[in-house]
Amino acid sequence: MKEIHTIGIAGAGAMGRGIAQIAAQAGLGVVMFDVQPAALVAARDNLDSTFKTLVSKGKITQETAQAAMTGIAFAEDINAFAACDLVIEAIVERLDVKQQFFRQLETVVAPDCILVSNTSSLSITSIAAVCERPARVAGYHFFNPVPLMKVVEVVDGLRSDPRVGDALMELSRRMGHTPVRAKDMPGFIVNHAGRGMNTEGLRVAQECVASFQTIDEIMREQAGFRMGPFELMDLTGLDVSHPVMESVYRQFFDEPRFKPSPLGTVRVAGGLFGRKSKGGFYDYVDGQKQIAPAVPAPRMEGVTKVWISHLHEQGHALAGHLLRGLGAAIQMGSTPDPDCLLVVTPYGQDVSTTVAQQGLDPARTIGLDTFNGFDQTKRRTLMVSPATDPQWRDRAHALLSHDGVPVSVIQDSPGFVAQRIVAMIVNIACDIAQQGIATPQDIDRAVNLGLGYPKGPLTMGDALGPAKVLEVLRNLQAVTGDPRYRPSLWLQRRVQLGMSLLAVSATQRA
Ligand SMILES: NC(=O)c1ccc[n+]([C@@H]2O[C@H](COP(=O)([O-])OP(=O)(O)OC[C@H]3O[C@@H](n4cnc5c(N)ncnc54)[C@H](O)[C@@H]3O)[C@@H](O)[C@H]2O)c1
Repeated sequence: MKEIHTIGIAGAGAMGRGIAQIAAQAGLGVVMFDVQPAALVAARDNLDSTFKTLVSKGKITQETAQAAMTGIAFAEDINAFAACDLVIEAIVERLDVKQQFFRQLETVVAPDCILVSNTSSLSITSIAAVCERPARVAGYHFFNPVPLMKVVEVVDGLRSDPRVGDALMELSRRMGHTPVRAKDMPGFIVNHAGRGMNTEGLRVAQECVASFQTIDEIMREQAGFRMGPFELMDLTGLDVSHPVMESVYRQFFDEPRFKPSPLGTVRVAGGLFGRKSKGGFYDYVDGQKQIAPAVPAPRMEGVTKVWISHLHEQGHALAGHLLRGLGAAIQMGSTPDPDCLLVVTPYGQDVSTTVAQQGLDPARTIGLDTFNGFDQTKRRTLMVSPATDPQWRDRAHALLSHDGVPVSVIQDSPGFVAQRIVAMIVNIACDIAQQGIATPQDIDRAVNLGLGYPKGPLTMGDALGPAKVLEVLRNLQAVTGDPRYRPSLWLQRRVQLGMSLLAVSATQRA
């Protein structure tokens, strides 16, 4: 492979500009081409002001800025790509337009020029299929905004020469980005792995388990994510994320794990896209997300007597420790007294199923999410069944918020809120590994950097305990009968064999 010195960028939109910036800052020569002269003018102005801002903030020197800006040529004619070593296509997201562009490009560039597409949703193999030299075509998927999103997916099409991908991996590092390598499969890594949070969040909301805001609060404060699913979708814009959900679902031939929600369809139809339309899952006034005030915790006199189900030993111990610390009198023994609050701590089950299995008094029974690894000091999740008496719910709420920690009261749900969303995230990542779309390490890197999750999903699964994640999924599948919760073979086998979710098979390593 010849060395890459000069990069052509087709499309002077948001992505083309971002890629031009990091390439020019890395000292590469850049040629930008767009069919719209106005887009080129806007790109030049935008890049010039970006470099000036970086200088004023002390991020780069005046000399670097000057060299970067003079290193970018702006062209209205595709022939300007003739001397490029690599051309990155970042034009409109339509297969026919991209194929036509690649056909034309091959008549302009040298035979050894690498051709890549920044597509997020189209198959690299199908773009390359119209090329005379498909071996030199690959995917190079950056994220928006490019200079801040430091990860890039290098995608091998079925006919890509692996040395093309190797050269792109190396180039990414020169530009200060972390490359991850993916097979040409729908959504590559990040848009595939990202299905877990949003589709399961929507499913939880559709079951009327909790409000959008409550689901977000639980995901942030208990499960440790920077944003919950609805804040995230409002930020991205549902006009962008709903079609991605539909596209990945269809491309995997209606895989139940990725099933989009009619909650999204109706919002898109109504123009409720999120922040950009000043209304989405939240309302926005002067750019500020409107938050419903927290429901004040009820007050209760006297000591609450609590009996905790032994069904789940770890949950029993955690709940006992927590509730004792909050001043509850814990009743020991297998049969609860008639004046006790009954607490169940299921993994992947709802309160109703647990009540029925254990023959408990439904009016007095509440669920507490004690899944290990979830933070009980920032927020707690209290779950009721349709038969829980409001007085017992309020007593439980008062007890759980006794030390001032906010409590989310949710309706019955197998796997509460955080358990089921996190289990879906881990399960989908496991299946990406099972399908060999990327290495476990690259899956974690891509999700960590591309989606901003606190940990990569496989590391997250290891930290929570693969066996516990599996238990949540199995129970979810049993309670709902829905194949979307079927555990990935990758997860099952690693639990059966006591291996880390990051471990590839011994024979593949050898
Ligand atoms: N915006 C994102 O968040 C994002 C993230 C990752 C990948 N992508 C992908 O990157 C690509 C570009 O996205 P964008 O958001 O920058 O789009 P954009 O609409 O902002 O810009 C596209 C530019 O391409 C130009 N163009 C269209 N057809 C052309 C052609 N035949 N030849 C040359 N120029 C042409 C348009 O004039 C426009 O200036 C798409 O494939 C998109 O899916 C976008």
